[in-house]
This record gives sequence, C-alpha cells and structure tokens, in this order.
Amino acid sequence: MAVKRVLKMGDPLLYCKAEPVEPLGTPELDSLIADMFDTMAALNGAGLAAPQIGVSLRVVIFGLEGNPRYPDAEPVPKTVLVNPVVEPIGEETEKGWEGCLSVPGLRGLVERHAKVRYRGYEPHGNLIDRTVSGFHARVIQHECDHLDGILFPMRLGDIRLMGFEEALFPEL
Ligand code: NI
Repeated sequence: MAVKRVLKMGDPLLYCKAEPVEPLGTPELDSLIADMFDTMAALNGAGLAAPQIGVSLRVVIFGLEGNPRYPDAEPVPKTVLVNPVVEPIGEETEKGWEGCLSVPGLRGLVERHAKVRYRGYEPHGNLIDRTVSGFHARVIQHECDHLDGILFPMRLGDIRLMGFEEALFPEL
C-alpha cells in the first residue's frame, strides 16, 4: 500500500479510455485499490479513478464523510467499483460545484444527471446495483468520466463557471 502521485490535467493518460478489468479477485487488483484508498485519503479526495494514479483500468473508488474539502455534501458510502456502468434515470439535471485531485485548487459548476442507476463489481466479484441522487450521483458520474478520459472542465459550457477555490469560496 502506498500513496501514489496523482496525474494532473495535461497528462495524456488522463484523456485515454481505460480498459476493463479481467479477471476480478487478483492480488494485483487488491493492491491497486489499496493504493487508491491511501492516495485518496492522503489528499482528502471524495473519489479517485485508477487512471489518475497512472493505471488505465476501469476501477473507481469514492466515499465521503466529514470531508473538509466538501463540508456541505451529504455522506456517501465508501465504495469500490470495478467495470462500472452508469445510466441516467429521467431527464432532470442539477448544477453543482466539483473539484478533482487532477485539477488541484480549482472548482467548476458542472451540470449532471440528478438521478442515476449504477452497476459495477466489488473487487472479488459481488455485483453492486444502486439508484442514487444528490452528491452521490454527482460523484459516480465524475469518477466514471475519468474512465472515458473526461475531466470536469471538459463538461463546462462556459469557462467562467470554473475558478480557484480561494476566489470562489473565500470563507473556507
Ligand atoms: Ni476527478
């Protein structure tokens, strides 16, 4: 287990489509996930995708409880998802502020589906199938975007909807 370097926006690997994991349940997969949790915890992230630590595989982790980077967000259960799939439920969208460990210091107001169903596997093969809304729905959409080479600034219609944390939220 180790804290890994997080790739920053501009690194070509962040714009690649990641490969599915096959097979599940390997020591290599367990070790990747342990590194991802160590890295996310060290940087107070709410989520992390494997490509962000330089591994182009379809693995995401997320979870949020009492995170100083997201003081107002509702809790999200600690989750590992391998080969995840996200599908929108309904037409409703919501705008919310997002940050990313690959885009340090910046936040953007990103429009996402308000409600989604997601499915994916735990590292040893149990299926997770959840329908979620709110910040939970936002996090899973953000993390799965990483697996398709998409960073949140690429979702902004207007670059003025992005800025530095200290300028946008001087009270924090
Ligand atoms: Ni991110």
